[in-house]
Amino acid sequence: MEYKFIIANFQYDKHIGLIQLNRPKELNALNLELMLEIKDAIKRMDDDENIRVIIITGNRKAFAAGADIKQMAGKSAIDMLKIDQFTTWDQIRKTKKPLIASVSGFALGGGHELVMLCDMVIASDTAKFGQPEIKIGVMPGAGGTQRLPRAVGKVRAMEMVLTGDFIDAKTAESWGLVNKVVPEELCLSEALKMARKIAEMSPIAVQLAKESVLKAFDQPLQEALYFERKNFYILFSTEDQKEGMKAFVEKRKANFTGD
Ligand code: CAA
Repeated sequence: MEYKFIIANFQYDKHIGLIQLNRPKELNALNLELMLEIKDAIKRMDDDENIRVIIITGNRKAFAAGADIKQMAGKSAIDMLKIDQFTTWDQIRKTKKPLIASVSGFALGGGHELVMLCDMVIASDTAKFGQPEIKIGVMPGAGGTQRLPRAVGKVRAMEMVLTGDFIDAKTAESWGLVNKVVPEELCLSEALKMARKIAEMSPIAVQLAKESVLKAFDQPLQEALYFERKNFYILFSTEDQKEGMKAFVEKRKANFTGD
């Protein structure tokens, strides 16, 4: 697939892929084509044995200002149902490898929902997060009413969804939407630093650990605990477990191969 609205770098750094949303004039508004391209690139990176972590970013002014309002404006409910654009988001949710968002400028509506699909978020001090759909007569449709309250609690989610007000990066950090806020010029390098750290770990352990953490959001505690336990036991069949524990005993750095 040729990409028109994103730039995908499969060798951004050792074991790290980078996807940059690239529709700057429209503030990276997420039209259907752009979302399909993101889905395709993420799937290819997820299937690429050489890649262990994926970073998603935008540009200085916008990570993404939401779904493409101009593309949706004239649609009927049945048009929307037939297009069923949010299944793309479901596919992204299934990504096995860690997704890190590096966010500068606006992350609004679907743009913010895309950020919330990522596993970790580095924000620049210019970042603004919001769910402004209410201002255009609709509501979040790509997970905003569900992932946001799970992340920040009811009253804060209600405020964002019902007033459409934006929050700044520091507020997003204090509410638990963002791991770290850094000056704009360091946003991507800080995400890279985090990605490199994770890329040094055993990729199978990383995959199963990610899968287990996500279970906390869609299963009751006891079932999720059983799931976690099984993943923990499975890791004892990997070479990386043997190497990791041996390296600890021998007081040296582990060399994880992914076996
Ligand atoms: N869809 C389509 N085009 C968009 C867009 C969007 N979401 N956001 C910005 N653009 C376009 C603008 O129309 C403008 O295009 P033109 O130059 O052709 O007029 C261009 O990007 C630059 O935008 P502005 O001139 O508006 O830039 P600004 O700095 O004055 O304002 C902004 C920035 C506050 C982000 C403003 O653009 C804005 O409010 N955008 C819409 C945000 C929004 O409502 N997002 C939610 C969309 S619905 C959704 O996402 C549903 C869902 O749950 C998936």
